[in-house]
Amino acid sequence: MQLPPDIERILLDEATIQRRVHELATQISADYADVDELVLVGVLKGAFIFMADLARCLTIPHSVDFIALSSYGSRGAARSDAVRLIMDTRAPVTGKEVLIVEDIVDTGYTLQYLVRNFQARNPASLRTCTLTSKPTRHEVAVQLDYLGFEIPDVWVVGYGLDYADRYRTLPYIAALKPEVYRTAAH
Ligand code: IMP
Ligand code: MG
Repeated sequence: MQLPPDIERILLDEATIQRRVHELATQISADYADVDELVLVGVLKGAFIFMADLARCLTIPHSVDFIALSSYGSRGAARSDAVRLIMDTRAPVTGKEVLIVEDIVDTGYTLQYLVRNFQARNPASLRTCTLTSKPTRHEVAVQLDYLGFEIPDVWVVGYGLDYADRYRTLPYIAALKPEVYRTAAH
C-alpha cells in the first residue's frame, strides 16, 4: 500500500480497529444493559471518529455530547493545570451515566483533568473509554475503564488523531516518521 509521505508504518490497520471497537461496544452495552440512558462525552477533536463508530455499535439507549479542550504545549498537556475546557457539553450531566470517550492517553494529565472535572458535576456514574494508551509515557495514574489498544511511545496519527491537525481521516492508526515531529517547531 502506498502510504502518505510523512507516515512511517501502520500500527493498527482498519480491520483491527473496527474489530476492537465492536468488542468495546459489546462490553459497554452489556455493562450498561440496565441503565435508562448512557451519555457518551466525546473529546474533540481527536475522538470524533472513534466516538462515531463506537456509538453506532452500541445496542443500548445512548446520547452523544462533546467537549473541547485546549492544552498549552503541543505534545499533549505538560501538566493538568495546563488543560482548559474551551467547549462544554450541551446538556448538564448531573445524575447521568457518563462515559468519557478519548482518543489517546499519553502522560495522562488530560484524562486526569477530565475525570476530576466530570466527577465534580455529580454524575450517577463516570467511566472512561480510551482508544489508545501509551503506558510507558504515563506520568499520573489514570482511570482506564475501557481501553482499545496499548501502543508504543511514538507519535501516531489517523482515525481521529492528528499531527498539526492533519491525517485525522486516515482509516488506520500509523506512526509518523520521527523526523517530521522532531524537526518541526510545534
Ligand atoms: P496527555 O494529557 O499527555 O495524556 O495527552 C493527551 C492528548 O495529547 C491527547 O488527547 C492528544 O490530543 C495528544 N496526543 C498525545 N499523544 C498523541 C499522539 O501520538 N498522536 C496524536 N495526539 C497525541
Ligand atoms: Mg485528545
